[in-house]
Amino acid sequence: MTHSSTDWRSFRLDASEAERELEKLRATQEGMDVRMALAQDPLRVGHLSWGLDGLHVDASKQRWDQKTLEGLLSLAQEAGVKQAIKDQFSGAAINQTEGRAVLHMALRGRPEDVFQVDGKGVMEEVMDTRGHLLDFVDDVHAKKAQGLVTDVINIGIGGSDLGPAMACKALRRFASGPKAHFVSNVDGAHIESVLEQLDPTTTLVVVVSKTFTTQETMANAGIAKLWLSEAGLDLTQHLVAVSTNLDATQAFGVSLERTFGFENWVGGRYSMWGPVGMCIALSIGRAHFEAFLEGARNIDRHAQKAELKDNLPVVLALLGHWNQNHLGMRSHAVIPYAEDLGRLPAYLQQADMESNGKSAGRTGEPVAWNTGAVVWGEPGTNSQHAFFQLLHQGTEIHPVDFIAFRKPTSGHVQMHGKLLANAVAQAEALLMGKDAASHEPHRNFPGNRPSTFFLFDELSPFSLGQLVALHEHRIFIQGVIWGIASFDQWGVELGKALANALLPELEGKASELPHDASTQSLVGLIRG
Ligand code: F6P
Repeated sequence: MTHSSTDWRSFRLDASEAERELEKLRATQEGMDVRMALAQDPLRVGHLSWGLDGLHVDASKQRWDQKTLEGLLSLAQEAGVKQAIKDQFSGAAINQTEGRAVLHMALRGRPEDVFQVDGKGVMEEVMDTRGHLLDFVDDVHAKKAQGLVTDVINIGIGGSDLGPAMACKALRRFASGPKAHFVSNVDGAHIESVLEQLDPTTTLVVVVSKTFTTQETMANAGIAKLWLSEAGLDLTQHLVAVSTNLDATQAFGVSLERTFGFENWVGGRYSMWGPVGMCIALSIGRAHFEAFLEGARNIDRHAQKAELKDNLPVVLALLGHWNQNHLGMRSHAVIPYAEDLGRLPAYLQQADMESNGKSAGRTGEPVAWNTGAVVWGEPGTNSQHAFFQLLHQGTEIHPVDFIAFRKPTSGHVQMHGKLLANAVAQAEALLMGKDAASHEPHRNFPGNRPSTFFLFDELSPFSLGQLVALHEHRIFIQGVIWGIASFDQWGVELGKALANALLPELEGKASELPHDASTQSLVGLIRG
């Protein structure tokens, strides 16, 4: 049954007719045995698989069927998902709690694309900034060829670290620039372990911080600056800044020419497509960086144009909702069968959990359903020898995303078959299980455990752009269905404020704040 669209900004799941129908469907489908469904319906794989420019997604091992999908698509219709996507692309201030547009898609746009904020086109400025960035990259590559720049350190945290760190590792085989290093933690061990390997005379330090006030980043940037000045170097030649806070970057001593700004309509965790991606561009160079942007743009266009039923981010968002809120599967494992994607789970943790870990609805009332899933994972096959035991035989069911690549991800091509065989076998084992003889219950695999298989042709700048943009849109659409504000992150503020307040106390000053007894005890133990 189709439902008329409501205004997505005021949509609530507990008032949704489509959601009530899905609830009824759950009662009949909860015990679905996917093995039987696959055996009985020869069209099932085709109906629950999607293809898109080098990517094949097979969700036929999930505990759903076409009827479920139809019900979920009615929900998307009723929730106003289409209009929400349109509003996002139009530059409307959909980040409502901060009164901002959400237009990271413009950062990967082409000059002819139209993106507007407050009725004013932004592509000209985006292209200017990209031009400045890529000219700088070309210049550094030329210096690298002369041995003048060998290394670059990205100092940032959260969105100013995870995306670039993930992408530089993922695109290792495309690297031609200086070697990229990442420092994020306020634990001095992090910067110490990086600086001790490097020669300041041939190192560029890129300080990335949207606000240029983040405690961890400013502490690390201060240490790196001292390291450069103690080597007697001209700081303006070694420091680069990426920020929206140009007064602060100047005060820190970064030359204007080496400062790359971006706008507040780009959220931190959605920002690696612009100057925050400086270290990605420095590592892989102009042409590959442009291909990375094109991959993401490919998904942007798909998200905008495809019908709901063919729209991959929409379908994946709906599947996540079904698993979480109807089948009670609260976490989501992401297992890349590619060592180079080792940082993808950490990257997705921020993208997803900082966006959708919310309990206040968009209209302010608390939500009465589950929102952001717990996202976790490690590359295969290592994870098989760590936590797959629990996935196969544990008491709770955790849906898995398998991510694999047809073409080898290394020069050791003879190993790739083994890698792929493991990926496909794990998905099959989770599904099929194995009946042990009755006297061997410990060897019993219950099976019927859901997974989605993402099979890309290859791991390239383009496909990485697709993969990330797919999740970005999926996360927003889930936020629309759950009626939450996906683009703020107020939940990280309290801890930051308390850390600032506690620091002087740990350094021996009198307490200005009352503390609970446990905190008081810890402060006492640390002060000694
Ligand atoms: O963790 C909170 C957060 O605000 C993230 O959203 C952001 O990516 C990170 O801190 C870093 O912020 P900034 O880029 O301003 O240093």
